[in-house]
Amino acid sequence: MSNYHIKHLEEYYQVYRKSIREPENFWEEVAEEHFVWRKKWDNVLSWDFTKPEVKWFEGAKLNITENCIDRHLATRGDKTAILFEPNNPDEPSEHITYSQLHKRVNQFANVLKAHGIQKGDRVCIYVPMIPELAISLLACARIGAIHSVVFAGFSSTAVATRINDSDCKMVITADGSYRGAKSIDLKGIVDEALEECPGVKTVLVAKRTNSEVHMKEGRDLWLQPLLDAASTECKAEIMDAEDPLFILYTSGSTGKPKGMVHTTAGYMVYTAYTFKNAFQYRENDVYWCTADIGWITGHSYIVYGPLANGATSVMFEGVPSYPDFGRFWQIVDKHNVTQFYTAPTAIRALAKQGVELVEKYDLSSLKVLGSVGEPINEEAWHWYNDVVGKNKSPIIDSWWQTETGGIMITPIPYVTPTKPTYATLPFIGIQPALMDEAGNELKGNQIEGRLCIKFPWPSIARTIWGNHERYRETYFSTYENKYFTGDGALRDEVGYYRITGRVDDVIIVSGHNLGTAPIEDAINEHPAVAESAIVGFPHDIKGSALYGYVTLKDTGESRNHDNLRKEINQLISDRIGPIAKLDKIQFTNGLPKTRSGKIMRRILRKIASKDTSNLGDTSTLLNPEVVQDIMDEAL
Ligand code: WT7
Repeated sequence: MSNYHIKHLEEYYQVYRKSIREPENFWEEVAEEHFVWRKKWDNVLSWDFTKPEVKWFEGAKLNITENCIDRHLATRGDKTAILFEPNNPDEPSEHITYSQLHKRVNQFANVLKAHGIQKGDRVCIYVPMIPELAISLLACARIGAIHSVVFAGFSSTAVATRINDSDCKMVITADGSYRGAKSIDLKGIVDEALEECPGVKTVLVAKRTNSEVHMKEGRDLWLQPLLDAASTECKAEIMDAEDPLFILYTSGSTGKPKGMVHTTAGYMVYTAYTFKNAFQYRENDVYWCTADIGWITGHSYIVYGPLANGATSVMFEGVPSYPDFGRFWQIVDKHNVTQFYTAPTAIRALAKQGVELVEKYDLSSLKVLGSVGEPINEEAWHWYNDVVGKNKSPIIDSWWQTETGGIMITPIPYVTPTKPTYATLPFIGIQPALMDEAGNELKGNQIEGRLCIKFPWPSIARTIWGNHERYRETYFSTYENKYFTGDGALRDEVGYYRITGRVDDVIIVSGHNLGTAPIEDAINEHPAVAESAIVGFPHDIKGSALYGYVTLKDTGESRNHDNLRKEINQLISDRIGPIAKLDKIQFTNGLPKTRSGKIMRRILRKIASKDTSNLGDTSTLLNPEVVQDIMDEAL
């Protein structure tokens, strides 16, 4: 019997029980049956959540690109690995076969080596959704360099912070990028960032928009001529199971972004295994995840998971609204997409456009619909299910995080009966727990609490780059011996989970994880600003949007508030990126604070959400009088 592909509910429960009772035997069997190893492990798992330390498949040797590319060459050499769909529908799609991918990754890997990149070096990848992006990740993995992808929508300051935090030696970028009708001067952003990054010696530049860019002598090189001259053979570096594969930054509720470190073997095993089962992937399927590779969803479920299964993975450069809001459905129709994985914010935006743009296209190829990134509300769930899926493609509402590396709670399509807004059951090997605020585990069903995970799974992040103590503090100190997710969840009468949202100061806007602290820091840089507080409030399309309360240094001065709002949003855009701009900015004379000086965000959240019937206990406030003022002037 094979544990690798689950096909009915009984089997799910059977495999799940085995994965919990004998996790080491279970994961060892999966690892043995489905991957190629240069050397097998000495020990399947060792762990200690108090340190915290987790090691999977210790002693094993492998290269993830041999699993994602080389081993498919004999049987799938001419199969499309990456199907690139450009921003402009009039431009041709590009089918990159496994054997072409092999050559292109090797050439790229040789270019990296020729420019001094060695095993363990960090390489920052700031590239739009063009084939070079996927190829650059794999090229780093080929030679054991640690990639750090920065979403190509982040600002120069955000890029610089990330480059410096992990001491990247090299940056890979493009001249520019296309997003719908717009194009963005990526190289210009990199140039600005690098003024603050003395450690970067080389910049490789892919051509996409053919726009004019400045090439700095001795540092910047056009990528294509180097690739053309490079050999198509490059021996894979043999890596240890626990060697870092990549760093990916995610926002925290305080402080600078956290460079989550994922390692090689466990990440590979878990993303491949979840991909196969959570999407019920079969050999001739055409799978499409609409995320950007700049986020974990793209790392795990555009690149590594699909390729480890020899799948065809669609990579889309553009946006859902260009040239019109039918673009997603046109692509599904054009390529006969079988699995479609997107975010609730996109579903809500498309639902708003009506059904005509969906019905124009033939979506009969679809078998599985996925949702990820934030809770999916009931209305969006039904629209997705009825209008897109025609009631025949199960929706997998998959809950997971940058830190978890792979999908953690999800229905298995055609296996787990779905329920609107529920992520349903834990995936194989995952042991969730709901906790109360006092630190007790809540047993039984029909209960709500804070979501933790009790036992390690193979793709858990191993540390925060350069700050293990922060890793311990953030994830392992709230509840003893448990990984704390930062989310709240409830468990219904049959044991299905529904994620209710963040319980910390992280706000999810259009599926993007934003910490309040860096946004407040950006606002406070404005010379007129004394103090600020950001909270989330419900938004039709974005799920949550940002509401800022700002106090000014000199309230007597009559400054134009509209101009100030523009300047503040410009600052945020410069420091973080346009995704972090505020929808509403309210100027106030004070912020509600506790006696210890902490801003009481709970009250600000309620005011922003227009839910002021019960503000809760305000007696501990230092300045209760400001609450009424803020309410009176709320936007
Ligand atoms: C946070 C993690 C993992 C891929 C993208 C986001 C929220 C994610 C769901 C879901 C409800 C969800 C959680 C989580 N989230 N998926 N299906 N239902 N909430 O990765 O940027 O690390 O964000 O996204 O709040 O903690 P991320």
